Amino acid sequence: MPLVNVDDRAVHVIDRGAGDPILFLHAFPLNAAMWEYQYGALEDRYRVVGIDLPGFGGSPAPADPRATSMDGLADLVAGALAALGIEQAVVTGLSMGGYLAFALARRHPALLRALVLADTRAMADDSETWHRRDDQQQRIEQGDDLAAMAKALIDNLLGPESLKRQDLVDWVLALMADSTAEGWIAALEAMKNRDDSLSALREITVPSLAIVGERDRITRPTDLTLIAGRLRDSRLTVIPSAGHLSNLENPIAFNEAMETFLADLDGPAQEQPDDQPA
Ligand code: MLT
Repeated sequence: MPLVNVDDRAVHVIDRGAGDPILFLHAFPLNAAMWEYQYGALEDRYRVVGIDLPGFGGSPAPADPRATSMDGLADLVAGALAALGIEQAVVTGLSMGGYLAFALARRHPALLRALVLADTRAMADDSETWHRRDDQQQRIEQGDDLAAMAKALIDNLLGPESLKRQDLVDWVLALMADSTAEGWIAALEAMKNRDDSLSALREITVPSLAIVGERDRITRPTDLTLIAGRLRDSRLTVIPSAGHLSNLENPIAFNEAMETFLADLDGPAQEQPDDQPA
């Protein structure tokens, strides 16, 4: 799996399959491997590309995490796409990946073929959330144990049915373990200072799909209803038996929603000669 160079920074990407590109932006504090079920389902028809943000998965940690911004990450993602020769993609982001997709839509609108926004929120952080993230950053800087912090997140990330599946819990913990202290601080910095995207939703004209796990406690179904209601051309799918990480908690329903959306983007299926009446 390659490292691409963007302005002298190495960025790790997963790049599989061939066809129209679909870009996947990961949640916090996970990495691009969280989309494995989607890559597997789509790579026979599409080029699937996942990007590890700095300090997550295979991307080296940022040198100055406190200098990170969501807009800067959007520029990094745009640079990685350029390095891969991709001019336009269906941009798919879950939670923090959705915040990043909004920044990409504002700063690089021509890159978007369509948008898939999962378990995310268009509003900026309120003051309580800003301070909670700031406190987390300070604890990490003082050497708090990342594994313990990750473990404390799991009850909110997964829905009740998923929490009973030890294999799934272990996988999510393993994904979160593949991260650095600098990556956490950088992502928290970008999230806590990100712009509000609610009013900018009306500017997005590409077709969009909003997805949410029915038991998501971090970004609730009402957050996605709001997003879908503000976008000009959108639909909303609620994923049963899933919490915040809907793509890996119920991949069958998530993939079905994505595949229907993608098929509609491609237009009606062409009739094959064999289908013609005699
Ligand atoms: C995520 O899943 O990316 C985070 O829960 C987002 C957040 O903390 O706002």
